[in-house]
Amino acid sequence: MKSMIHYLLIVIVFTGLTTGEIHNVCEICTCDNLDKPITVHCDSKNLSNLTNIRFNSSIETLSFINNSLTFKSVGDLETINNITSLKSLILSNNPLSTIPEFSSSNLTNLQLENTYLKTATFPKSYENSTNLQSIVLSNNKLGKLTRENFKSLSSLTKISLDNAQLNTIDHDTFTSISTSLQSISLVSNSLKSAEFLPTLNNLLSINFDKNKFQQLPTEIIKPVRTKHFFFRDNQINIIDELSPLYYWTKTNLTGIEIYLNNNPFDCCQSRWFIHYLTGSNNLVKDSFNLTCALPQAYTGRRLIDLHVDSMDCSTKPVYPSNKLTIIVLCLMGVFIFILIAVGTALRRRNRNYFGRRQQYETIPSADIPT
Ligand SMILES: *[C@@H]1O[C@H](CO)[C@@H](O)[C@H](O)[C@H]1NC(C)=O
Ligand SMILES: *[C@@H]1O[C@H](CO)[C@@H](O)[C@H](O)[C@H]1NC(C)=O
Ligand SMILES: *[C@@H]1O[C@H](CO)[C@@H](O)[C@H](O)[C@H]1NC(C)=O
Ligand SMILES: *[C@@H]1O[C@H](CO)[C@@H](O)[C@H](O)[C@H]1NC(C)=O
Ligand SMILES: *[C@@H]1O[C@H](CO)[C@@H](O)[C@H](O)[C@H]1NC(C)=O
Ligand SMILES: *[C@@H]1O[C@H](CO)[C@@H](O)[C@H](O)[C@H]1NC(C)=O
Ligand SMILES: *[C@@H]1O[C@H](CO)[C@@H](O)[C@H](O)[C@H]1NC(C)=O
Ligand SMILES: *[C@@H]1O[C@H](CO)[C@@H](O)[C@H](O)[C@H]1NC(C)=O
Ligand SMILES: *[C@@H]1O[C@H](CO)[C@@H](O)[C@H](O)[C@H]1NC(C)=O
Repeated sequence: MKSMIHYLLIVIVFTGLTTGEIHNVCEICTCDNLDKPITVHCDSKNLSNLTNIRFNSSIETLSFINNSLTFKSVGDLETINNITSLKSLILSNNPLSTIPEFSSSNLTNLQLENTYLKTATFPKSYENSTNLQSIVLSNNKLGKLTRENFKSLSSLTKISLDNAQLNTIDHDTFTSISTSLQSISLVSNSLKSAEFLPTLNNLLSINFDKNKFQQLPTEIIKPVRTKHFFFRDNQINIIDELSPLYYWTKTNLTGIEIYLNNNPFDCCQSRWFIHYLTGSNNLVKDSFNLTCALPQAYTGRRLIDLHVDSMDCSTKPVYPSNKLTIIVLCLMGVFIFILIAVGTALRRRNRNYFGRRQQYETIPSADIPT
């Protein structure tokens, strides 16, 4: 009886789906050409599935921005995988939560912006997507990236991870795409370090604008092929002879550009940098715009307007001896500790001495019954 009802229900649902009118995609979406559509926009159509839509196999660019697609059903995945000429698929603003298991081997560009993704793990199905070159994962809450995320990818050249709430990127995250990756955009995250950089031997451009770097990362000391570095709107306050920039001046680097606008420079502690900016080998392309945050006497002044020799940095206490101060304090601490230790040892010895004497004296004074 129960199974009978189940059967009836299944039949009803099934016939409901199959008798649902089937539309050619161009009846619902915007096509550039009705007979042989190449570019198709299905944006804001309130679609939750693709069950009743037929897609021409001529489509190369397909956009589904702002719908309710999840691609959890095998049918919807197959529908996309069956569009053999598809190169560009735009799924931004859909409630995906995980990356759909596409396997179209001609796909070159996949955009998954603002899709509720919490991890960026590409499933195994992408192992055959050897033409996939560009991926957009911006505006998701990814948190961290690990080696697991991109290990199914092999030929990616460009990845955008802007505003993805990233605070950690493991050093081996991009291992599978280390020779193909040319450009990474990481704007508006919470990154402070760049351990993964040395693994990327064909990287041309890296964008760390609007992150939390407090200094230029040492990993940029030897740029292999990278020509564009962006560190605007970070927390970099000191650039001195310990900075990677100093090492750049010691090697014959050509064609490199670095952008550093909107960092809170401490100009007294960055006097080497100010000197460097006025030199002819200056690779800082927005040097014109850089200003001091500290010390107060120079707040808001442009670095290129300052003259290192005539700067007044005397009000800065014990410059540049932060490390020296710590060492001196440590030595003083050790010295005081020794003093206290010796002092208590002496006192204990004295007390023992007197104690024994007292004890010694009490014996004869004790009343001994006779
Ligand atoms: C695209 O689909 C429409 C409607 O099904 C059809 O008339 C047209 O011939 C198709 N074009 C190609 C190239 O398949
Ligand atoms: C979107 O579709 C759902 C059902 O799938 C419906 O309840 C809702 O009213 C639709 N919204 C708009 C704006 O058409
Ligand atoms: C998203 O799509 C819905 C219809 O499904 C529409 O009402 C809404 O205006 C769209 N939002 C944007 C930002 O385009
Ligand atoms: C597929 O979408 C259509 C219209 O958007 C809706 O009526 C139908 O219930 C959906 N089917 C499934 C299985 O979600
Ligand atoms: C995809 O193509 C295969 C083989 O041509 C076909 O059997 C299958 O029904 C298609 N699936 C969809 C959802 O169109
Ligand atoms: C890739 O696209 C070409 C045409 O652009 C087509 O001939 C080929 O079959 C497609 N490959 C696959 C695996 O669909
Ligand atoms: C990749 O393609 C090969 C050969 O066509 C096939 O055997 C394999 O199952 C495919 N892998 C995936 C993950 O689709
Ligand atoms: C620096 O490299 C350029 C070409 O990359 C070369 O022409 C030039 O001689 C080199 N200069 C030095 C000092 O090595
Ligand atoms: C300096 O900043 C202004 C606005 O903040 C910008 O328009 C201009 O392009 C910047 N100049 C350089 C050299 O970066």
